[in-house]
Amino acid sequence: MEKHNIVLIGFMGTGKSTVGHALASRLGWRFINTDDVIEEQQGMSISDMFAKLGEPVFRQVECDVIRKSLEGMNCIIATGGGAVLAEQNRAVMKEKGYVVALTADADTIIERVSQDQNRPLVQGDVAERVHTLLEARKHAYDFADRKIDTSKLSVQEIAEMITADLQL
Ligand code: S3P
Repeated sequence: MEKHNIVLIGFMGTGKSTVGHALASRLGWRFINTDDVIEEQQGMSISDMFAKLGEPVFRQVECDVIRKSLEGMNCIIATGGGAVLAEQNRAVMKEKGYVVALTADADTIIERVSQDQNRPLVQGDVAERVHTLLEARKHAYDFADRKIDTSKLSVQEIAEMITADLQL
């Protein structure tokens, strides 16, 4: 494979972290969850970061973390759902990785994210927030090399599809 990393993109709750872990253990590659790196680096949760520093600061840190995560090779990188909104992120993802967009239907997403307090963009009326954001971002993940609907597949099936694509 020319591209030496696998980048998982997709809306919140589409399974990027879960699939990323499975892929990493299957391939023996390193797993990086950019949200976790950001939280560790900043010493605060994503929610606190949005509340205390604001979303633009989060987005700037996210850009830096994505760029650095892609400097190496043989990494599986799970990105935050909004990372694809910045052109520079899309460019570096495509240059350095095989980009896989995970999707899920709205009901599946709502069910997966509704218990989570650490997703500031979908607090309050979760269903309404998810529908609005899904509409706003409906083409945001189209630049991926490959799209997989995770609603009805097992994690192992998804990991299998990706490794088969890459003949890994
Ligand atoms: C965001 C998604 C979150 C996190 C932040 C913003 C977004 O990541 O980066 O809350 O804009 O969609 P997950 O997709 O892992 O939930």
